[in-house]
Amino acid sequence: MKEQVQDYYGKVLQGSDDLQTNACCTDDAMPRFMKKALANIHDEVLTRYYGCGLVCPEQLKGCRILDLGSGSGRDCYALAQLVGEEGSVVGVDMTDEQLEVANRHIEYHREKFGYAHANTEFLKGEIEKLHELDLPDNSFDIIVSNCVINLSTDKEAVLREALRLLKPGGELYFSDVYADRRVPAELVDDPVLYGECLSGALYWNDFLNLAKKAGFADPRLVEDRPITIDNSAIEEKVGHIRFFSATYRLFKLEELESHCEEYGQAVIYKGTIDHRPEVFELDGHHAIERGKVFPVCGNTWRMLHDTRFKDHFEFIGSFDTHYGIFAGCGHDLPFTTATAEAGGSSGGCC
Ligand SMILES: C[S@@+](CC[C@H](N)C(=O)[O-])C[C@H]1O[C@@H](n2cnc3c(N)ncnc32)[C@H](O)[C@@H]1O
Repeated sequence: MKEQVQDYYGKVLQGSDDLQTNACCTDDAMPRFMKKALANIHDEVLTRYYGCGLVCPEQLKGCRILDLGSGSGRDCYALAQLVGEEGSVVGVDMTDEQLEVANRHIEYHREKFGYAHANTEFLKGEIEKLHELDLPDNSFDIIVSNCVINLSTDKEAVLREALRLLKPGGELYFSDVYADRRVPAELVDDPVLYGECLSGALYWNDFLNLAKKAGFADPRLVEDRPITIDNSAIEEKVGHIRFFSATYRLFKLEELESHCEEYGQAVIYKGTIDHRPEVFELDGHHAIERGKVFPVCGNTWRMLHDTRFKDHFEFIGSFDTHYGIFAGCGHDLPFTTATAEAGGSSGGCC
């Protein structure tokens, strides 16, 4: 399967127009600052973008970021601008042709961003075997990935390696494709369905259990959208299986509990996170408005207090008294949110 994937992204596809479905595509909606960052990126890098979501977590200045399956480097070069010259970005990919494109434009982007030294590098490697690269434990603030983990044949190893490389309080923030049921083996073996990021997709509940098993106790769903295939032959093959793209954030915080527990705590957002003056959205259920007392469970408290977000909140309460289960968090499953009720959105251009 590894060779098939390398062949698909190295030789079969020359650009996003060659994709046969819109699974590896991203909706156009994105914040203005991100559009501005993308406008600085070289055309060849943009042409070979095959992501399915927006991997742009908040408050990146000075962060060290790792991108798993960085492809031609679009997300790395966008993030390289957001971390600033004091931050850095490392991309890992196993396909030579993708790495060649990414590496060819390092100097172009250094100059474009006005940096004295390039803050982006690309390494050849497999995301299941990151221990083979010279990357120290606990060395990244954030790990991102865009439409890649579905292609891995050992997804548990990928999550384990990500946990090892993240600093305490760091997060894995990634977009990927999921299915509403387990994909039958004969479809997994289909090279086009697999290469198009469909048949390697995990059933969402298997993903949640895998993430918890790997040490990410409370996965948070940031956003999701249904994938429309727009290719009758492929639609016929996948039958009733519904696929969707979802972005999760998984914090490396040892003390997270398996459920949201109530300790009578609350936070007040100061409005100081970059590009988020009015509201900070931790996930699909936590749109925290500036200046308002916002009740939180113990896990949400820790995601804000024991991470890079700490200075941007006032914290009310403690863990001294437990009041039972917390009712307010909500853990909608992908594709059960408003997008589904509205009939879903079609995939945008890549
Ligand atoms: C769908 S593309 C996404 C690329 C990039 N993230 C983007 O948004 O354009 C998948 C990429 O993941 C890489 N890839 C797939 N499986 C991998 C693995 N096990 N280890 C390293 N790279 C992998 C492929 O070479 C390809 O470049």
